[in-house]
Amino acid sequence: MNSTEKFRNYINGQWKNSISGKEYEVFNPADKNQLLGSIPFCSKKDADLAIDAASSSLHEWSNITAPERGEILFEVLRIMDSRKLDLAETITLEEGKVLSDSEAEVKRAMNIIQFSAGEGRRLLGNTSQSENENNVSYTMRKPLGVVGIITPWNFPLAIPAWKIAPALICGNTVIFKPAFSTPLSAIKLVEIFEEAGLPPGVINLVTGSGSEIGQSLVEDNRVQGISFTGSTEIGTKIYSDGASKLKKIQCEMGGKNAVIVLKDADIEKAAKDVVIGAFGSTGQRCTATSRVIIEQEIYEEFIAKMLIFTKDLKIGNGIDADIDIGPLSSLDQLEKVTEYIGLGVEQGGKILIGGNRLEGEIFDDGFYVEPTIFVDVDKENIVAKEEIFGPVLISFKVSDLSEALDITNDVDFGLSSSIYTKDIKQAYKYINNVDTGMVHVNSPTLGGEVHLPFGGLKSSGVGHREQGEEGFNFFSELISVYIDHS
Ligand code: UN1
Repeated sequence: MNSTEKFRNYINGQWKNSISGKEYEVFNPADKNQLLGSIPFCSKKDADLAIDAASSSLHEWSNITAPERGEILFEVLRIMDSRKLDLAETITLEEGKVLSDSEAEVKRAMNIIQFSAGEGRRLLGNTSQSENENNVSYTMRKPLGVVGIITPWNFPLAIPAWKIAPALICGNTVIFKPAFSTPLSAIKLVEIFEEAGLPPGVINLVTGSGSEIGQSLVEDNRVQGISFTGSTEIGTKIYSDGASKLKKIQCEMGGKNAVIVLKDADIEKAAKDVVIGAFGSTGQRCTATSRVIIEQEIYEEFIAKMLIFTKDLKIGNGIDADIDIGPLSSLDQLEKVTEYIGLGVEQGGKILIGGNRLEGEIFDDGFYVEPTIFVDVDKENIVAKEEIFGPVLISFKVSDLSEALDITNDVDFGLSSSIYTKDIKQAYKYINNVDTGMVHVNSPTLGGEVHLPFGGLKSSGVGHREQGEEGFNFFSELISVYIDHS
């Protein structure tokens, strides 16, 4: 069903159109004929208004006690709980992921809000012994100030939540720029913050042109920090431009995550996890499994098992309950993923299953591609090196763990990785030698829990990790206090 609803920005506690009056339309990637609404197409002038509002409200917000800020987040949590299904459906409609994944995303957003709300009763510093008699010294946290939050389309609710909640609990005010193609979850999230009683100006939502709004946030001296999730290309630009303005920047970027399967592994479990890791959420998550590295003794058996699980996957509109894999999120994504598959074949890779855009019936209306497994791929093949961000898995056969580790580490990215083995020695050798920010043993490369840091090494990330205590470290400054009471 088409929606002609006109959505608005949220600046200084008011829902507004863009200053220019320009709008753009968003469509469902599972059915490109379904209009989901029109959205303000904002630019620098709107971003400036949002920065004005965030700057004016900073003093008041940062002087409310942290437990009181936490109470507002607990109220956000209660409202979210009452709207779980609506939020999940919104994610599926605008992003395409299957409803069960969207429900898991809503839960994840709620977890981070709960974790951050509780932090309102901590935000700890340290006391320390002084070298002077009758002196006391300690550290305390202060907010960074006004922060810009720039988020991607693949987790349109959870990623904003896991940046906004720690930012707010630390006492910052926020300008939130959601992804161009998925603004609806962002709007619903901001509505909840408003209803929960967040004062005007503390959160400001600006939809529209990523490059222009992003640039305004980076360039404006009133913005002290930027938290970005997205491509390595854009993250690198934000990081370097931000550095020249001495801003604190956190960038969470791509991955090329590998799973190693050793010959003693539980093959059934490992194959199931690799297939889910590679094709779940249509491969569009930075922690997706994009390479599987298999010890030669079990190679044939493992590949056969993966084929069985892959053939079982039901592809279609993610809003239908029996679907396992939804569409890619946009035409751009479809073109990018199919181009990578073509290049992989051109460079000598062999496709074991999949490789094509799905056509006919409902598929013609959306951006569907088959789950694809490559074998016999040269290590230098583009599909073995670059992040594809789609349901494409590259398999390698190796003679032992050392060779598997070499392949795992031989990419620019270092986000997540996993090994399947029952041998504790091999597992520790792996943990100690793999170059990734998140390491799994006998579990998929996916996801993370909110109380642990999330992020990667090399081109996968720069700046503080997100989530866990590190999330609060990014959004606060640690002040050292010296008191002489002699
Ligand atoms: C996850 O895979 O569970 O953009 C979360 C991304 C990551 C978040 C992924 N920053 O895909």
